[in-house]
Amino acid sequence: MKKVIIGVTGGIAAYKVPELARLFVRSGIDVQVVMTPAAAEFITPLTFQTLTGNPVFVEMYGDRTGERVRHVELLENADLMVIAPATANTLGKMALGLADNLLATLYLAADCPVVVIPSMNVNMFKHPAVVSNIELLQKRGCHVMDPDQGELACGVYGSGRMPEPYDIFNFARRAVMIKDYQGIEVLVTAGPTREPLDPVRYISNPSTGLMGFSLARALSDRGALVTLVSGPTHLTAPAGVRLVKVNTAAEMREAVLSDYSKCRIIYKAAAVSDFRPAENWDEKVKKEKASMTLQLASNPDILLELGKNKGNKILVGFAAETEDALQNAHDKLVNKNLDLIIVNNLKEPGSGFAVNTNRVSIIDRDGKVEEIPLMEKEELAHLILDRTAVLLKK
Ligand code: CTP
Repeated sequence: MKKVIIGVTGGIAAYKVPELARLFVRSGIDVQVVMTPAAAEFITPLTFQTLTGNPVFVEMYGDRTGERVRHVELLENADLMVIAPATANTLGKMALGLADNLLATLYLAADCPVVVIPSMNVNMFKHPAVVSNIELLQKRGCHVMDPDQGELACGVYGSGRMPEPYDIFNFARRAVMIKDYQGIEVLVTAGPTREPLDPVRYISNPSTGLMGFSLARALSDRGALVTLVSGPTHLTAPAGVRLVKVNTAAEMREAVLSDYSKCRIIYKAAAVSDFRPAENWDEKVKKEKASMTLQLASNPDILLELGKNKGNKILVGFAAETEDALQNAHDKLVNKNLDLIIVNNLKEPGSGFAVNTNRVSIIDRDGKVEEIPLMEKEELAHLILDRTAVLLKK
């Protein structure tokens, strides 16, 4: 997605929309804001202008003579229109096909997907006129997001609250399912590796593979051609993803290297075992040997090897740390020649192995650190793709 039009109408929830605009901007998407005159009573066009770097339009008619018809010009190359908040008044106009302001006119002229975020008092939201307008808009293909429950600006409790900007951002993205990775070859590694000691024992770690599998699913949904090299997990490969199953770090290395040359991006989410038993017994080691000393050998560092041969590929590494997380991760980014590293502190609640959530920081080549709030790994996968999509465009 390259360009989104955000239409703001006159409800109190308009105060949350600058944050929504910022989320699109940070994903490298050009944001054009259009407001109704009522919206401009709640929040100033200057706020949006400053955040988006684009002029904000409220009036239907420009003051320059010879200007092209404004709604046609604004809609050029738009991939998505998001109307947030959508008041009962604007929903009514949209349902009836009225075009008495710039935003309503744009909606009628738009040929891109339209996402609508109704937000109003609970009784207005339940009114049969509003209910049937929303149903009609849905039938016509608008993606309408349910409002949240909670305390409303008018003081009553109920349904009608505008959802949080990040939830709207994700809803909009899912509704459109941006194909920003269309046709791009991507390699993802996931899960642990297992380093056998004998036929019944191995060295490994608690990785479930969820982060890597989530990345593979998100990439495939966004149009990428995905090869997923995974150590042992209980997860099933997302539809359309080519799964290569491996056990040991050596097998993972081989699988990764054989696909490396054709791939544009590599996400190295696997928790590769750094060591393997130096000796590998063909028969089960009997317990009489319990006091033996286990000699370990180092495994190849796959990502280090990829980084030495980087070319114009985008390399994304992961680091799970227990101390000095940012410093250690930044050192890994530099040593392994990465574009981004996603780091989490295993000691933080909700982060790390075998949980559905993660709280990470993303570090780029300039050393800039972005702190990401705790979120589901599925959602985090899309956020990571948003960040690499910006690198792809460079
Ligand atoms: N990695 C790899 N091959 C290895 C070890 C790690 O490709 N043998 C990759 C991981 O997939 C991850 C990144 O390197 O993307 C960092 O892994 P991590 O285990 O955190 O770092 P190490 O370099 O192994 O350093 P240490 O274990 O000492 O923290």
